[in-house]
Amino acid sequence: MSASRDRKIPRVTPVAEGPLLVEGPAEIVLPDGSVILCERPVVALCTCRRTLRAPFCDTSHRSRPRATRAARSNATDAAASGPAEESGPS
Ligand code: FES
Repeated sequence: MSASRDRKIPRVTPVAEGPLLVEGPAEIVLPDGSVILCERPVVALCTCRRTLRAPFCDTSHRSRPRATRAARSNATDAAASGPAEESGPS
């Protein structure tokens, strides 16, 4: 059996509107090339970019859910159509 088959296959679980849960221990490679060894059983990596502890999730994603594609599209459409007409007496 090859060496790659002997290695444990890491499990990565995306959480809806939340982090990626990576089965640990894991080595996290940062953009500058440095490596953080995480020995916890599960490491939560931020995907929302609101964390103050990048690259790790600090639960900031819970404060405001990420806008869905449909909600963003509706907001863009509303902005493009201009101000809404007001109803009522003038
Ligand atoms: S995913 Fe949790 S803070 Fe970004």
